[in-house]
Amino acid sequence: MSQSATAPPARLRRTQSGSATSGVLCSAHAGGNAALFPQVLALHVPDGAVVADVTHGQGVFWQQVAAGRYRLLASDLATGTDCRALPYAAASIDALVLDPPYMEGLLRGRIETRGGLGSHAGLRAAYSSGQEAEPARRWHQAVLDLYLAAAAEARRVLRDHGILIVKCQDEVSANRQELTHVQLVMGLAALGFYARDLFVLVRSNRPGVARLLRQVHARKNHSYFLVFQKVPDGQAVARYRTRTLAPVPLAGRA
Ligand SMILES: C[S@@+](CC[C@H](N)C(=O)[O-])C[C@H]1O[C@@H](n2cnc3c(N)ncnc32)[C@H](O)[C@@H]1O
Repeated sequence: MSQSATAPPARLRRTQSGSATSGVLCSAHAGGNAALFPQVLALHVPDGAVVADVTHGQGVFWQQVAAGRYRLLASDLATGTDCRALPYAAASIDALVLDPPYMEGLLRGRIETRGGLGSHAGLRAAYSSGQEAEPARRWHQAVLDLYLAAAAEARRVLRDHGILIVKCQDEVSANRQELTHVQLVMGLAALGFYARDLFVLVRSNRPGVARLLRQVHARKNHSYFLVFQKVPDGQAVARYRTRTLAPVPLAGRA
């Protein structure tokens, strides 16, 4: 009996495409926002996209982004635009960047007890406008309320499958561990956002502590860039899969 009569049919060999490399973007970085942010954008936002940075502040995020790569719409409370009430039409934005004050101390109603006084004045200048109104709820809940209200507004202005990049840092508030990044992933899922990616940024310098009696929690020296994607109405966040955001030619925009 010939071999061909008994041998199973030859299996087609799968040809792997792509090339071996270690030059991939990793999830954890040591350094600063200005170096990491352009890499987050490059991975998740197509060139030419309309990107609204609604808490633009001093524009640190954009310092190392090549000019003209995206169409940046910059706004901030300090220049008169509240990220919870944006002047953009529904579904008109490809990607949105949100980095509000992440420490409850910067949102306290009374200016005398607000964080960022004295030797911490630089913190207030970099992280808040100093014009935040008295929040409806106190402590860490004020931080979450701001993020979630801004995310709801982001959902309105983003087009379907649009990208929302959220900067945040966990905090211990009133002796309670608040894992802001977890709270945001859960809160934004309820608003119709899929958590598409997560980056951890570790400070390269050691944080100083002015008066330490007894350490209770680990001192935080890391923050996050969370990357969300808008799940279209009627689709389940739990079943959504990462989708490439196709660039929209300028001519196709309203
Ligand atoms: C952490 S800083 C942003 C820093 C910014 N990403 C940068 O690269 O320089 C927070 C910013 O949120 C702004 N802000 C606070 N509340 C806001 C609100 N309700 N709407 C818009 N911006 C707000 C502050 O004025 C401040 O500039």
